[in-house]
Amino acid sequence: MKKLIHINKKINIYKNKSIKVSGDKSLSIRFAILASLAVGKSKATNLLNSEDVISTLSCLKKLGIIIKYNKKFCEITGKGLSGFNNKKNLTLNAGNSGTAARLLMAALVKSKNIVKITGDNSLKKRDMGRIVKPLQKFGVKFPNNKRTLPIHIKGSNLLKPIIYDELRGSAQCKSAVMIAALNAEGKTKLRCVPSRNHSELMFKNVLKIPIKIKKNKNFDIIELTGGNSFKSFNYDIPGDISSASFFIVLTLLSNNSNLLIKNININPTRTGIISILNRMGAKIKFKNLKTYRGEKVADIFVKNIRKLKSIKLDPKFNSSAIDEFLLVFLVASVSKGISEFKNLQELNKKESKRLDWGFKILTLMGIKTKKMSNHGIKIWGNPDLKLYKNYEIKNYLKDHRVFMVSVIAALSFGGNWNIHDPESIKTSFPTFLKIIKKLGGKLN
Ligand code: S3P
Repeated sequence: MKKLIHINKKINIYKNKSIKVSGDKSLSIRFAILASLAVGKSKATNLLNSEDVISTLSCLKKLGIIIKYNKKFCEITGKGLSGFNNKKNLTLNAGNSGTAARLLMAALVKSKNIVKITGDNSLKKRDMGRIVKPLQKFGVKFPNNKRTLPIHIKGSNLLKPIIYDELRGSAQCKSAVMIAALNAEGKTKLRCVPSRNHSELMFKNVLKIPIKIKKNKNFDIIELTGGNSFKSFNYDIPGDISSASFFIVLTLLSNNSNLLIKNININPTRTGIISILNRMGAKIKFKNLKTYRGEKVADIFVKNIRKLKSIKLDPKFNSSAIDEFLLVFLVASVSKGISEFKNLQELNKKESKRLDWGFKILTLMGIKTKKMSNHGIKIWGNPDLKLYKNYEIKNYLKDHRVFMVSVIAALSFGGNWNIHDPESIKTSFPTFLKIIKKLGGKLN
């Protein structure tokens, strides 16, 4: 793939087009890890074929799990909760994927030998203390005593269930504790700020693990009983709303265009982007709604809206839109009035410092912004925004979402853009540029 792409033309009007985006990343990684812990052959269709998922599969193969992956399906032969072959001196590389690193560590809580977990330069900067702490409570050891990768992990045969408060709204932390709890006999109790609930739905509806979920005003209370093995399962993975969101925003901002995005997971814990955009004046609709294994799935219909309005966002939406904020900031840039977002500290803990990148991209576009002391951003929208200067996007730790949002900005607002490292899309959405071309986007 090229070192950079050049865009100097807005996208033309597109009407009545329909697209499909690739399978959901969160569900794909959860499928792989949970299938490796099940007993027997599990099969997924529409598994996301991206580097994050491939890294997960490679780590599982190194742990002795047999995986057959072709264009039609991915079959994983699990050997139960204690089925990993933990050879000595094993190194697992999770690549760019925080979800893979954190959930794999949780799956290794019984490992007899020390396993080294590492990742790429971006992943090595990310906080693993948030996972190390609860795993230590279960009885897992971390001999090199580190909070960033590479981390050495050594399991235990005497894991005890824990009580855990998840206060960041992080689904990775919650899911890691839930996966570790599978191996700890007795009841693990979690009190969690709501976040994406794919793990809960899989545990309950697919794996039939004894789990109780209650919701009160501010928290999800989860109780699950560990020590029970579970059977293999099949799963048909719906499209990823985080990938669909790039095209939702492109269409919203492109004159007279409309688009149908088919078969997307619209789990309410993931649709923050839709709630936010609809509150800003968009009219995004769900069609062909169905439920699959507790997950809601639908086609998403979006059309261009000329008059968008600013928003003062209630932070209760932060978790359900956590991967989409750069896109929300773009929309705020052309929405009438001053938008405000707060409590976004988690954004700077992603593949790159995404809150900082939000400021950088908007400032580059000439949009007035202000950093707020509450980890927030104020954006002065300019509904007449038209770009004509040169814009360069580089050195962003190859964060796939920074690349893709820059492409959407270039195609929506004009200007002369050089956007480096297009191979970053391989992390989560390898067909992104193909779909852009299908819709008529001109890339050089
Ligand atoms: C994910 C959870 C979120 C999200 C990430 C995927 C998951 O991370 O940003 O892309 O699959 O559980 P956090 O748990 O760190 O918020």
